[in-house]
Amino acid sequence: MMIRKAVIPAAGFGTRFLPASKSQPKEMLPIVDTPTIQYVVEEVVAAGITDILMIIGKGKRAIEEHFDRHFDLEAELEATGKKEELRAIQRISRLANIHFVWQKELNGLGDAVSYARSHVGNEPFYLALGDTLIEPAAKVAREMVRVFERYRESAVLLEKVEPSKVGRYGIVGGERAGDGLWLINRFVEKPRPSEAPSNLAIAARYVFTPEIFDAIARTKPNRGGEVQLTDAMMRLVRERAVYGVLLEGERYDIGNKLDFLKTNVAFGLRRADLGRDFREFIKKTAAHL
Ligand code: UTP
Repeated sequence: MMIRKAVIPAAGFGTRFLPASKSQPKEMLPIVDTPTIQYVVEEVVAAGITDILMIIGKGKRAIEEHFDRHFDLEAELEATGKKEELRAIQRISRLANIHFVWQKELNGLGDAVSYARSHVGNEPFYLALGDTLIEPAAKVAREMVRVFERYRESAVLLEKVEPSKVGRYGIVGGERAGDGLWLINRFVEKPRPSEAPSNLAIAARYVFTPEIFDAIARTKPNRGGEVQLTDAMMRLVRERAVYGVLLEGERYDIGNKLDFLKTNVAFGLRRADLGRDFREFIKKTAAHL
């Protein structure tokens, strides 16, 4: 079976990005001029998936509106001859077939994913966190899909992190199964460096077989009352093979302020319309550091 559906969780409070995330979704924070979650949608579409379910919650209406049409604005752009802008905003609403479901209480990422069950049904799906970008996005997403098509099992994207920083991440243990490929046999959430089975961290992109839903349903909330996706994956890996795909590129967690700044610099420098002036500014600024 092919991967036809993607799920993008975007319901979280975003407490690490206050005060900006108080009344607007962190997933809408712009990287240069485009909301983070739009890049995620474009990544999914580039992998050939156009049925997308977003998991949202209170205070996330701006996400719905961003992917809807805006007739008054279209008319205004039409009337004033702003053709490029018109094309850009019309393109957004045509990108994919987007559905929404509301996570009733924010009980963690595993809980959020469980709300996708009735939409996804008995199919494999791509899961992409709405507050995290990867680069090169299309290439990585296609690689994840290819690994699923080859092995017909779940897969997670893995990022090499500094050994001293493993305590911030979900870390995997396993054995090599090919070039940039691991067969995972365990997941450990935020291990101490001395207890970490590797320095490979789970990196915000997954392909799951539908068995993940039963694994989530059987996962108890942690002490903070959250159902963790990593805990559900610990269950899954006892029953099914789970592959790890090494990220050869970058991961940007926009929900953290430093990464947000870095992402804007990286993306800004690459822009054909802004890159040159921006580079001059950065050089001048760096000279004074
Ligand atoms: P985070 O781990 O960044 O958690 O979620 P958070 O609550 O959004 O943010 P902080 O830690 O308070 O700053 C990773 C992704 O999972 C979604 C978030 O929207 C984000 O895209 N998420 C998280 C949910 O959809 N529901 C949840 O209950 C938790």
